[in-house]
Amino acid sequence: MEMIIRPRRLRNGVNLRKMVRETRMDKSSLIYPMFVKEGTGIREEIPTMPGQFRYSVDQMPYALEDLLKAGVGSVMFFGIPDHKDSHGSGAYAEDGIVQKAFREAKKRFPDLYCIGDVCMCEYTSHGHCGILRGEYVDNDQTLSYLARIALSQVQAGADMVAPSDMMDGRVEAIRTMLDENGYGETPIMSYAVKYASAFYGPFRDAAGSAPAFGDRKSYQMDYHNVREAVKEAMLDAGEGADILMVKPAMSYLDVISRVKEVTDLPIAAYSVSGEYAMIKAGAALGYVDEASIICETAAGAYRAGVDIYLTYFAKEIAGYMDEGRIG
Ligand code: PBG
Repeated sequence: MEMIIRPRRLRNGVNLRKMVRETRMDKSSLIYPMFVKEGTGIREEIPTMPGQFRYSVDQMPYALEDLLKAGVGSVMFFGIPDHKDSHGSGAYAEDGIVQKAFREAKKRFPDLYCIGDVCMCEYTSHGHCGILRGEYVDNDQTLSYLARIALSQVQAGADMVAPSDMMDGRVEAIRTMLDENGYGETPIMSYAVKYASAFYGPFRDAAGSAPAFGDRKSYQMDYHNVREAVKEAMLDAGEGADILMVKPAMSYLDVISRVKEVTDLPIAAYSVSGEYAMIKAGAALGYVDEASIICETAAGAYRAGVDIYLTYFAKEIAGYMDEGRIG
């Protein structure tokens, strides 16, 4: 048989397969999203996200300790306030829930890298990501609020802020606010390319942040578009974003690759609540093998080009890396 090129030659044995692996991942690129709520003694499971919990600030350190033990050193906090109003004032209150979480986390674990999701939807009575004018989310009026939220998070101890609201110009507004207040070294990870997605469903249950009317399509992106992703990414890069995020991850791998091609900034992808929920549900029914699906899904995102991966499976993935299943 005259065949000198045989791809199978490089697939024989685990050592060789690992040697020629094209995608390498490591724990330092994982970020774990976490929900904190008012109260004490609370560790309640989120019904649509089995295995994920809402923690009160006093319970949160136990979860953080587990995470650090697994080798995951970065967390993104989402606050669930007791009271909401039309202007989402809980988002920038000095004693707001997420501010308390930052203070406690940094006090207990100074080396834990703490990121703040900057948005208003968990804090507004109407559930939209900005200030309303009638039933329309007013872009420019919202900017000063977002800047204020970011500043209050950084003052409480956030190491990085991540605006997820999708208002135009918010990276510049936040950058200016942080710089003017002496936080010129605090990076911004922009949810630059965020699609209007049904994959956020379980998150909105978890955070009670579903819009009271309408949807988010006038500010989040249409999932038919990919050139627009490049436009959003370049705009945010120009406004001073340090890291660009694509969200969701699983159905948007082409978008990750496209954005990666056009910028030198690190690219993050957020494997969102619906992705988590689908894997959990499929595995619970015995239809797919949970660990294998988690590994394959994560590797897909890295192969597409992500440098940073936000996932509710961060701890599990770190464990699979230890076991040598992926990495
Ligand atoms: C806030 C925000 C959302 C998510 C992250 N930040 C919800 C939304 O835009 O409706 C979703 C995360 C997830 O689904 O895991 N705007």
